[in-house]
Amino acid sequence: MAKTAEIKRIGVLTGGGDCAGLNAVIRAVVKTAVHDYGIEAVGVRDGYDGLVRNRMLPLSYDDVSGILTTGGTILGASNKANPFEYFEPGQEEKGASDRSGDCLENFRAAGLDALVCIGGDGTHSIAMKLQEMGIPCIGVPKTIDNDVCGTDVTFGFDTAVQVIADAVDRLHTTAQSHHRVMVIETMGRYVGWLALVGGMAGGGDIILIPEIPYTLQGVQAAIERRLQSGRTFSIVVVAEGVKPPGGDYVTRDVVEGSHDPKRLGGVGVWLAKTIEDLTGLESRAVVLGHLQRGGTPTARDRVLATRFGREATVTACRGDSGVMVALQRTEITTVPLAQVAERQRNVDPDGQLVQTARSVGTVFGDE
Ligand code: F6P
Repeated sequence: MAKTAEIKRIGVLTGGGDCAGLNAVIRAVVKTAVHDYGIEAVGVRDGYDGLVRNRMLPLSYDDVSGILTTGGTILGASNKANPFEYFEPGQEEKGASDRSGDCLENFRAAGLDALVCIGGDGTHSIAMKLQEMGIPCIGVPKTIDNDVCGTDVTFGFDTAVQVIADAVDRLHTTAQSHHRVMVIETMGRYVGWLALVGGMAGGGDIILIPEIPYTLQGVQAAIERRLQSGRTFSIVVVAEGVKPPGGDYVTRDVVEGSHDPKRLGGVGVWLAKTIEDLTGLESRAVVLGHLQRGGTPTARDRVLATRFGREATVTACRGDSGVMVALQRTEITTVPLAQVAERQRNVDPDGQLVQTARSVGTVFGDE
């Protein structure tokens, strides 16, 4: 027999950049709604864009069967649609307008009682404002960057780490054969989780992250020490959010209207050239970019995404909102959206992870 729910129809959208595991969350939200509570589920297309423009998609149990293992999102995503500062697609030159009223109207017209917003800090900041306007929102922490506060980990991170580890493994062989320095640039925005954990998993020799200030002399000295001890190659893993000393972020694009318009990228190419100039060793840069966001989720991400999705529906059916589901230690719980919005979870430069990396000889360029 179905459990009693305080709501009749639940909506779900995927905001921000995509990552592995989104479909697993959608599947769990919808299946829990239908299977456990006997209520209806509706998908909103392309993140908040679909809420502004009333693009809804009813989702049945069968609609979400077979998507557990697939990458991307069956609903589509938007990394720039912000209802409170909305740029009409194709008419960006006209400037932004506040379309949050349309969201409320469309939400009500669709007969929705709660909205599951799967995304990162930008998505959750918008969710919190929608909540204040009267749309009951439940956040689900998504991002390869792992920078969402209130949860020990976001889904999508583990898959991206695996991509980095695989790439570092492969790049080791060329580095060894050609006695080169290989610089691998990871994503991660302003935090170093991907570079740190992916670099550790791949056995990177030097890892540069935004949270640990480095010097070029420190990087050069580490490579030269390796040379002197007979290691004629080095693997450097650098986060896209690392700045050249005394300089600013290296950016590849600016996306107007986005919650965070700066698109980072390119520091790896600069670093490889600089290392070659400093050491005389042939150096190459590989930018992993969106490879880190694609493909089938790892087993760990599939299970985490499923647990998050189920908890989002359970929370909504209990009549709760204004919260984000989270993993704390081994348990799934909820935290207020207010503790998540407009905040960022950094790597602790003195924490166990960094200390462990140092103990096995990883250099952070700060010595
Ligand atoms: O937040 C996820 C992320 O992949 C970041 O790591 C990266 O900086 C950014 O999104 C890239 O955004 P876009 O897909 O718009 O280039």
